[in-house]
Amino acid sequence: MALLEIKDLAVRFETNDGIVSAVNGVSFNVREGDTLAIVGESGSGKSQTAFAAIGLLARNGHATGSVKWDGQEILNLPDAKLNRIRADEIAMIFQDPMTSLNPFLKVSDQMEEVLTLHRGMSRRAARAECVRMLDAVRIPDAAARITMYPHEFSGGMRQRIMIAMSLLCRPRLLIADEPTTALDVTVQAQIMDLLRDIQNEFNTAMILITHDLGIVAGSCARTMVMYGGRIMERGTTAEIFANPTHPYTLGLLEAVPRLDRKEDTLPTIPGEPPDMLKAFKACPFEPRCPKADERCKAEVPALERISETRVRACHRSPEEVA
Ligand SMILES: Nc1ncnc2c1ncn2[C@@H]1O[C@H](COP(=O)(O)OP(=O)(O)OP(=O)(O)O)[C@@H](O)[C@H]1O
Ligand SMILES: [Mg+2]
Repeated sequence: MALLEIKDLAVRFETNDGIVSAVNGVSFNVREGDTLAIVGESGSGKSQTAFAAIGLLARNGHATGSVKWDGQEILNLPDAKLNRIRADEIAMIFQDPMTSLNPFLKVSDQMEEVLTLHRGMSRRAARAECVRMLDAVRIPDAAARITMYPHEFSGGMRQRIMIAMSLLCRPRLLIADEPTTALDVTVQAQIMDLLRDIQNEFNTAMILITHDLGIVAGSCARTMVMYGGRIMERGTTAEIFANPTHPYTLGLLEAVPRLDRKEDTLPTIPGEPPDMLKAFKACPFEPRCPKADERCKAEVPALERISETRVRACHRSPEEVA
């Protein structure tokens, strides 16, 4: 059975300019120990998909559809009911660790509280467990450094602390939203390695949200590509890289830095992301798509299954796209 089962999820925001359709008919499952990357440009609906699933939408947002956790419907549950799941079973880490760590509290106080408050551990047992977790995320000399303040650590180390903190309650699902975007490339690679090791060690299921298809290859078994709040295609990460079937995926792959390419500037997909205030009667990618034809302007392509592992939403056939 799937741990997380999302069906036909839609997210709308009410704004002064009108209704923003941020997520449109998104469905996917995450099984125990599964790793899924959600990839797409800024504004494609990645974060709101995750936020809606765990009840963290902004006040002006509303979600419809179905989100099942361990077989139980949790979409739009009141906070009182969601808090237990969010504290014990699903952990989320964000792009900027400084916004999630309190600068005025020692790391030890922030971490230990998770275990003393939520798990009823003694301070002493909590300290031991926190040091163990900091060791696990490879903070050198964790036993001594745990009593330091967040600003005394580098950005990469702070992200490690956040990861350690998110794992304290041994979540079954870890959602990492752009966990390495604020870090430089070497540290980025270290954090991705760390997430992979942790995933192996604890068998935690993971949803990795990123705009950078480049970091997905070694870290997630499956990849889902989003654009305009919709799924463009989904498959195993190996298939998505070796055999993309959507023009948007091709564009994203072109934009991944490669060692064998000498240009100073990366190719980017020409054109602008869609205006989410518009309701789409066509493929959202059509205005930027090099393969678009008349049908793409007239009809939203349905998400169709093309194999056991693969779904895509494109009017052109996979052969026409390749
Ligand atoms: N509170 C809000 N009110 C109105 N629109 C919102 C709100 N929050 C998000 N949106 C819009 O929803 C759309 C999807 O946003 P989302 O945060 O999911 O993007 P994303 O794919 O995570 O992008 P990024 O890579 O920039 O984080 C965007 O157009 C965004 O402007
Ligand atoms: Mg986001």
